[in-house]
Amino acid sequence: MAVAGSRRMIWAVEMAVIVMGLMAMASPTMQLSMKNPLQGAVQKINDLGLSVYAIIVTATSSEEAFNESGIFNPDSSVVCKGRTFLLGTIYGRKFVFVNSPDSPAINVAITMEILADKFNLLGIIYFGSAGALNDSLSIGNVAVPNLIGSTGLWTWQPINAPKEGLLKFGEFNYPEKGENWLGSVQYDRSTAYINGTFKERFWIRVTPEWQKIAEEICEVDSVQVVHGLRISSADTYVNNEAYKNFLYNTFKTSVVDKSSVAVALGAYTNELPFILFNGVSNYANGSDVKNSTLANANAVKVLNRFIQRLLLPVPASYDD
Ligand SMILES: *[C@@H]1O[C@H](CO)[C@@H](O)[C@H](O)[C@H]1NC(C)=O
Ligand SMILES: *[C@@H]1O[C@H](CO)[C@@H](O)[C@H](O)[C@H]1NC(C)=O
Ligand SMILES: *[C@@H]1O[C@H](CO)[C@@H](O)[C@H](O)[C@H]1NC(C)=O
Ligand SMILES: *[C@@H]1O[C@H](CO)[C@@H](O)[C@H](O)[C@H]1NC(C)=O
Ligand SMILES: *[C@@H]1O[C@H](CO)[C@@H](O)[C@H](O)[C@H]1NC(C)=O
Repeated sequence: MAVAGSRRMIWAVEMAVIVMGLMAMASPTMQLSMKNPLQGAVQKINDLGLSVYAIIVTATSSEEAFNESGIFNPDSSVVCKGRTFLLGTIYGRKFVFVNSPDSPAINVAITMEILADKFNLLGIIYFGSAGALNDSLSIGNVAVPNLIGSTGLWTWQPINAPKEGLLKFGEFNYPEKGENWLGSVQYDRSTAYINGTFKERFWIRVTPEWQKIAEEICEVDSVQVVHGLRISSADTYVNNEAYKNFLYNTFKTSVVDKSSVAVALGAYTNELPFILFNGVSNYANGSDVKNSTLANANAVKVLNRFIQRLLLPVPASYDD
């Protein structure tokens, strides 16, 4: 163990020397992120130390909406681990765009890690479609949540467990409530990397500074933007009225999706700001009314407005 450890140390020191040497050769504008000076450093030098904002989506319908909006001017692409990263500009600033596989969301987390290793990121923006749990939301609304709850972390308890979980299957028996062999489900907290250590959290908070920038967008092109709501995120796709109502009543979550929690935890791990734009595509209640095209097109409209605001030079009175 000790030998392997010291070998790794020596290797790390040698690598650091190589990296320092390369940095010394680089022009002053070729700033390297010092967060991971070794891992991926050579590749970052190849990328000429670009500082970029990343946009991540997890569906073809999202990518189509992004392309159709015409806001992004791609100029190159790089394929890594099967993911295509498009580099380009939005309003003259460098962005990297990726459509990640999801299902399960661990695929999104892997894409997040590749992004963070390969590029000098300034932050992560996710957009996509989501189901509404809150009856005051309609298809086409765009939610900009402030809290993300991972609602797929279950400890599945037996029937008559001394400590029942929040989701008691017997309460959903039809036509009458009663006992159910499926017992109950206790919802566990996420382990999130926050401020240098792992912490147990149920709610993961969206970067407040970015949320503040987004909060001033109430309507874009007659698209209603809803702020400060909570989102449930889990690998389970929800399209069931009883469970929809349970999530809304228990966790006060207004929207549900599959990718957001992976984006959030990936951003936390890499200490990057992030924000989510969840366009409502359906009602998560068993209704077959669904419009992902509209949800994504509207999410892109809000994303576009957010980027305009994000890139604005900060006025002196901003803190007022
Ligand atoms: C979106 O545009 C990029 C770059 O032009 C292209 O490679 C990609 O195939 C397009 N995606 C879709 C879903 O049309
Ligand atoms: C991390 O630490 C800073 C400084 O103590 C604090 O302001 C911030 O709220 C912490 N972040 C989280 C997510 O707990
Ligand atoms: C449901 O959405 C409405 C409208 O956006 C909002 O005012 C309300 O607070 C939401 N409910 C919850 C529990 O968040
Ligand atoms: C689902 O919710 C929508 C919006 O509240 C409602 O119009 C629709 O009738 C509901 N469908 C079902 C199957 O409950
Ligand atoms: C989705 O919404 C758009 C814009 O309102 C509309 O043109 C389109 O027909 C809708 N698609 C579906 C499948 O309802």
